[in-house]
Amino acid sequence: MDFRNAVAMKVQETTGLDLETVNRLIEIPPQEDMGDYAFPCFALAKTMRKAPNMIASELALSDKLSADWISKVEAKGPYLNFFVDRGAFAKEVLSEVLEKGTSFGQSEEGSGKTVIIEYSSPNIAKPFHVGHAFTTILGHSLSRIYEKLGYKVVRMNHLGDYGTQFGKLITAFRLWGDEEALEKDAIAELLRIYVKFHEEEKKDENLTTVARENFKKLEDGCEEEVALWTRFRELSLKEFNKLYDRMGVSFDNYNGESYYSNLIPGIIDLLREKNLLVESEGAQVVMLDEKKLPPCIILKSDGTTIYASRDLAAAKYRYDTYHFDKNIYVVGMPQALHFQQVFAVLEKAGMPFAKNCEHVGFGLVKFQNMKFSTREGNIVALEDLLNESVAKTYELIKANAETRNSDLSEDELKAIAEKVGLGAVIYTYVKAGRERDIVFSWDTMLDFEGDTAPYLIYTYARTRSILRKAAEQGFLPEKAGSGLLNKLNGDEEFACVKMIADLPDAVKKAAASNEPFMVSRAVAQIARSFNRFYNNCSILGGDDAELKTARLALCEAVCDAIEAGTYLLGIPVVEQM
Ligand code: ARG
Repeated sequence: MDFRNAVAMKVQETTGLDLETVNRLIEIPPQEDMGDYAFPCFALAKTMRKAPNMIASELALSDKLSADWISKVEAKGPYLNFFVDRGAFAKEVLSEVLEKGTSFGQSEEGSGKTVIIEYSSPNIAKPFHVGHAFTTILGHSLSRIYEKLGYKVVRMNHLGDYGTQFGKLITAFRLWGDEEALEKDAIAELLRIYVKFHEEEKKDENLTTVARENFKKLEDGCEEEVALWTRFRELSLKEFNKLYDRMGVSFDNYNGESYYSNLIPGIIDLLREKNLLVESEGAQVVMLDEKKLPPCIILKSDGTTIYASRDLAAAKYRYDTYHFDKNIYVVGMPQALHFQQVFAVLEKAGMPFAKNCEHVGFGLVKFQNMKFSTREGNIVALEDLLNESVAKTYELIKANAETRNSDLSEDELKAIAEKVGLGAVIYTYVKAGRERDIVFSWDTMLDFEGDTAPYLIYTYARTRSILRKAAEQGFLPEKAGSGLLNKLNGDEEFACVKMIADLPDAVKKAAASNEPFMVSRAVAQIARSFNRFYNNCSILGGDDAELKTARLALCEAVCDAIEAGTYLLGIPVVEQM
């Protein structure tokens, strides 16, 4: 039962307003003493020709508003405040969670619809840095969120595997490449020769020409160049895949930019046909003045294609292949203008799917008092950040295990540290609105009491351990059936049940705004409210066996909700720590 909707139906029956309007007007009061749901009576003033305050007082007396799940209805100023019956509420919400388990919050609202989510898209031969982690983590989470809502999700990795830099790499590798080093650590070796190329290029202009020729050969499909490029691509991808595996991230399609270069002639024909291509300083461009955007370059003066043309071809390919209802690009905000231009060209070219393309941007990654031995300038590689986080987590949980005399083995501690350490990094990316810059600091992200993954995972693990202990004493949450759940009517219990009940709505809102933080916030609130309950009420103590059982059911539901929520963020839980 959806209590908000149930309240709306009561108001509808009583006032004759239509359900949609009522649903839109219902508010969640900011303070507990104002009830659980409130209906502002302003909308009725005109038809009833009375002051809203008066209407509220009269309605509060109506018999039509009573129900066994409503404990009282009160007028406060122009508001009609509804207090739900806590026991009935707990019974309703928790039975649903316990029945559905971690599929709680799942819905069919997206059924029959396809969403493409493009994320990660790192550049071949370059280290996978913390900025690529931002798109990877957001996109991975959004994919799971949309799937939860019944959408068919296609995960795409638009690899940066094309462009003039590959002419440079081919040239550099022929001159200075080290086979052994390439096999051992491809990205480090490719980076080394790439940097060297730029140094040498300053002294020898001829190198630039050779590199350009080599890229041309690559575009023309010359065997040797293609073979080298293929190796660079495969070896880089192998390294990226190690990171993806570690984070549980996967893709359905790895077509990089190179894939679309053959499709570009089709795009050029289309743009010509529509009379959209004009010449500007030797290049072929589409003017976007009416959209107040700079022209979008399609072909450079030497006839080679660029990033934007590949994106136009890619968008069309995606539509032709998947008939998407939504095509999402999880890419940093510095590329906002690029996407505005690409979408505008698609629209001008009469592509009906242009309006279903969306750029989902995000902020910058910063570090506070953190030292890394960086490989390239001040770029921090994700692998270094993860390793450091796991190592620090290990120290913390090991010290904790020692003080508690826990019997966790060394291997178990390591496995837990890996999950919690990764979770700590992932959570930092999804804990706030995506357009905000994020700041990494060990103190903040590894604070077991803070707004962190360790806090969520710890809450989960500790609750699991309570359930295990209870089971040893013969107390099982499933024995609560639905008959005992209405015993959960204390302040802290009610607050926690409410937070659990809000999760499905948070998932919907997260998808609607492409903001995973709506989910992280909801999960954090569940954990916070549960801990408040845990600190104030003894779960296993007391002699009321029925209450004990009901509370265990709450524990079980909290675990399901946390596990379901953290899964949507890409954060694993552990059974003990
Ligand atoms: N490879 C690019 C980068 O690292 C991101 C690609 C974004 N996606 C796109 N369809 N243009 O900056």
